[in-house]
Amino acid sequence: MAGVGADDTPAAARVVMMPLPFQGNLTPMLQLAGALHARGLAATVLRTAPFNAPDPARHPGIAFVPVAVDVPEAVVGSEDNMTKVFDLNAALDASGCLGDALASLLEKEAPRRPACLVTDAAFPAAQKAAMDLGLPWLVLHTCSAATFRLFMSYHILYGNGYLPKRESNLCLPVKELPPLQVRDLFDPSELPNQENVQKIMNLWNQTKMNSATIINTFEDLEGPELEMIWGEVTDNGTLVFNIGPLHKLSPIGGTKTSLLEEDCSCIEWLDTQAPCSVLYVSFGSLAQLTQEEFTEIAWGLANSEKPFLWVVRRGLVLGVEKPELPEGFERALLEGRGKVVEWAPQQNVLAHSAVGGFWTHNGWNSTLESIYEGVPMVSRPIFGDQFSTGRYVEAVWKIGFLLDGVLERRKIERVIQRLMVEKEGLEARQRAKDLKKKAIMCLESNGSSQMVLDNLVHHILSL
Ligand code: UDX
Repeated sequence: MAGVGADDTPAAARVVMMPLPFQGNLTPMLQLAGALHARGLAATVLRTAPFNAPDPARHPGIAFVPVAVDVPEAVVGSEDNMTKVFDLNAALDASGCLGDALASLLEKEAPRRPACLVTDAAFPAAQKAAMDLGLPWLVLHTCSAATFRLFMSYHILYGNGYLPKRESNLCLPVKELPPLQVRDLFDPSELPNQENVQKIMNLWNQTKMNSATIINTFEDLEGPELEMIWGEVTDNGTLVFNIGPLHKLSPIGGTKTSLLEEDCSCIEWLDTQAPCSVLYVSFGSLAQLTQEEFTEIAWGLANSEKPFLWVVRRGLVLGVEKPELPEGFERALLEGRGKVVEWAPQQNVLAHSAVGGFWTHNGWNSTLESIYEGVPMVSRPIFGDQFSTGRYVEAVWKIGFLLDGVLERRKIERVIQRLMVEKEGLEARQRAKDLKKKAIMCLESNGSSQMVLDNLVHHILSL
């Protein structure tokens, strides 16, 4: 087997982790593996290879076992991200490779069985592999607690007529899930493949069968949402552990989980900029823009007259491998006011004193990383859970502004001005700094996330 971690004692209970192999899902799972390992458990990660395989050398102490998967080109190339996740699940389910890998791991570990499998809430193929082998399983929900509630509520949202969405109800408040409006809901009926609608509804039913759900969040951030979840899931006997922000609970800090090579020249560039002056712009690992949106963003940034650091990843623009910046845009870069990179060491960027704002798609990892560093946001959600998170940024935590509607350069300049210069932006920054203090507190030795992590370890040992 590809190695038990060097510093594991033979007696340590082992947890097998099977991440969904996309950056935003893989990152928190590896961080959780690091946090459990630091609490004395042995961790083995089943990693798909070669598709989006993390580098074991970056995670000393964690064992990695490759699972050879042949991911169909249609999955890699699909432009719809939810479809990508479901098609990958279907392909892995059909190939049986996850079950085979898990069975062979159990055989090698015999007569001791691992305590459990931890897998992603959106990875039913892995959950099924554990069920078939009679191994207890837990899920990691890589989005917010608010999104977890949304995920539990689809029957109500359809039953009460909010979904499918209609042009006429988009601004209607969802009174069961305040402060969300219908436009913030991820609507499965909009998926190109309608078979996937039922799969989304089934995700929650299947999650109810697990032994516990772990949510990457903390009590001072989402206390009311967590209370409602605890109230709602008790009947099912499902345990919920709120443990976050995982990137700070795990010794795998920094940016060791990146699948792409980071361009660290941006840190040197940030060193030359004034405190809190730079807007960092990134839309995560999967989100895509149209060519028109990309061009408007470029000119909005250039015309804003504020320093910016922009991540233009390969594949960011629909149908284009390497996006081309508009002609004339380089002038802003040559003047030293802007920097463009293909991939940044994001956690280090957000921690840099020159960064004063983050224009984000509100992927949950990016949002938590920004909250932890006390950086206020411009929110431009693009798919799935990001819409509900964007609403929370603006309406609940009040640490940023939603940028909705058609992207247009003047609107972009305006929102940058609001965030980086105007009084309401400075107030949002102050609230972000206050929230940062709460995030730090939950990580102290008697903080809520540390205590819940202890409880999770006890739960795993009791399985
Ligand atoms: C998506 C969803 O949006 C998210 O809510 C879900 O939980 C997982 O899948 P993604 O769109 O990639 O993930 O966004 P996000 O959750 O923000 O994760 C992106 C990760 O990539 C972050 O940890 C961020 O630090 C990292 N990143 C991004 C870099 O390291 N460098 C970059 O240049 C950009």
